[in-house]
Amino acid sequence: MANIVGMIGCTHVPAIGGAVAKGLQQDPYWAPFFAGFPHAHAWLREARPDHVVVIYNDHGLNFFLDNLPTFAVGAAESYRNSDEGWGIPSLGDFAGDARLSWHLIESLVADEFDIASCQRMLVDHAFSLPVSLLWPGDGAAKIRAVPVAYNTVQHPLPSPRRCYKLGQAIGRALASYPEEHRVVLLATGGLSHQLDGTRAGFVNQAFDKECIDSLLTDPAALTRYSVLDLIEKAGNQGVEVMGWLAARAALGPHVRQVYWNYHLPISNTASGLWVLENQA
Ligand code: DHB
Ligand code: FE
Repeated sequence: MANIVGMIGCTHVPAIGGAVAKGLQQDPYWAPFFAGFPHAHAWLREARPDHVVVIYNDHGLNFFLDNLPTFAVGAAESYRNSDEGWGIPSLGDFAGDARLSWHLIESLVADEFDIASCQRMLVDHAFSLPVSLLWPGDGAAKIRAVPVAYNTVQHPLPSPRRCYKLGQAIGRALASYPEEHRVVLLATGGLSHQLDGTRAGFVNQAFDKECIDSLLTDPAALTRYSVLDLIEKAGNQGVEVMGWLAARAALGPHVRQVYWNYHLPISNTASGLWVLENQA
């Protein structure tokens, strides 16, 4: 059985990659954001996951408008990072585990999720930045990833309810894996933000708090919202909280909050770093 040790929610903003490349972690603008990661590292040292299931949204790198699955799971032994146009350095390759990926794919399809399986998959900043911040340096070599991408680019997007159910199905898939592993779920993106249109720069701290409170104690509560509700409350790109919802749904009902860091703005985004331990 693959044991789910917990989840981490982590904002992804391309400018983080620029800040790392320029060594700006102690800069007053960036310090409150980077200050969170030692807390996550300390928990990861205790929780000792050997695999990470990364629930994230591709931003037009591996998938584009001509070919856009609602849900896609990587099934490769490694994943190349590339920059979809922000001018940030690429971070090399990330280790996968095709065996665990195929188990997840088999289980999800049997569970009525018609996902795309990707034996080759480029991963964008939404994958590379959170993974490299959480497992810096040679830590990246010790963690093997299964990327799970969901569509936030072209409507219709999956609903919050569908993302919740996907997370539950991922939880069942991991529980039925025949090998013993320790797995952490990593949801990237969010929290509230809008990059385009007349509301560019929009954030909603009250809604971010509502999301975190719900995810902690009653995650299904967020499934009452439609995608359009989420856009109205969290901004066009704030729909990325659906990844957090999916990851939380993979955990059991009882969780312990280990760490919470909320800070804005990082670029246009209300940033969050959240560590939740799964209680048996
Ligand atoms: C920003 C946020 C995102 O989630 C993203 O994918 C790209 C940019 C931003 O705030 O700049
Ligand atoms: Fe994003």
